[in-house]
Amino acid sequence: MLLVTRIGQKTQKLVALVNKNISQENVKVELASLFDLSFVIDTGKLIVKIGVTDIKDFDLVYIRRAGTTSTILANTLGIYLKHEGVAFFDSVFGEYSAKGNKLRSLVQLALNNIPVPKTIYFANSENYPDYQYLVNELHSPFIAKNIEMQRGKGIYLIKSNSDYEFLLQGKKKLGKAKFFYQRFVDKNHEYRVIVMGNEATIWYEKFPSNKNEFRYNSALGAKEIYYDLKNIPKELKEIAIKASRCLKQEISGVDIVQDKNTNLFYVLEANRSPGFELDENLSPEVKTFSDFLKRSVCGDNQLKI
Ligand SMILES: Nc1ncnc2c1ncn2[C@@H]1O[C@H](COP(=O)(O)OP(=O)(O)O)[C@@H](O)[C@H]1O
Ligand SMILES: [Mg+2]
Repeated sequence: MLLVTRIGQKTQKLVALVNKNISQENVKVELASLFDLSFVIDTGKLIVKIGVTDIKDFDLVYIRRAGTTSTILANTLGIYLKHEGVAFFDSVFGEYSAKGNKLRSLVQLALNNIPVPKTIYFANSENYPDYQYLVNELHSPFIAKNIEMQRGKGIYLIKSNSDYEFLLQGKKKLGKAKFFYQRFVDKNHEYRVIVMGNEATIWYEKFPSNKNEFRYNSALGAKEIYYDLKNIPKELKEIAIKASRCLKQEISGVDIVQDKNTNLFYVLEANRSPGFELDENLSPEVKTFSDFLKRSVCGDNQLKI
């Protein structure tokens, strides 16, 4: 069994005493830090290790002390262990809660078989993955994404070892800043699908502010072209609805890119409380949102919450 916690002298002593008390050949408590966790996330397939050991090799995982900074990490681990059927305490860590970050959402999406770009995360900010390892796993260039930022901030395209070194230097200065590394999807389209309840209600394509910008965020000047809902590809619609529902969101703005080589769709994120264009001449969002609220109150929504 494994006890994941903050390692201190007291915990070490506790483990030594417990092992002495149990005194059974095949039952042994091991101690590890939450920050020894690493995640390799792919659609429907995750590998979570603690140090070099697959966490599924343990019969029981006791997530003991998770400070405020590591609660989301502990929750991410709990959600994974619950999904994989590995016994763990405290069971509250397996419940999906409102406080999260990009890593936890991505794990939730991947566990639910929603297509996401392959992503690697090391929880220990002193123990960076090797540049060459990342290139082998994700190809070059790859994306570095701050797990706590939004609106295109903290997202970098890493094209060389020196880009990576530069990022790591900045990261040290930022202290708590944390990145995951993600395959860069060479995209020919990027869409946003607005999901309300169990329906895709609006979809539009995003176009970057200039051809060298890989981040299609409206906060960075990206433009939107709204399309007729009748023409939304079935797969795009289904992926968006599934993503929104599995994150337990009734209203989502789902960012989906299309790989130009394979035409496959990948969900980048499903934003809670997406921004709406307030000029009703430009966008149907305010009207659609109002209708949805009205239907929710009047009780004729087919919401499966
Ligand atoms: N893996 C990726 N492949 C290609 N483009 C990406 C990838 N991740 C992010 N981007 C680009 O960066 C933008 C911002 O990333 P996103 O994950 O949506 O975070 P946020 O919008 O919260 O900053 C996306 O809209 C997309 O244009
Ligand atoms: Mg986004």
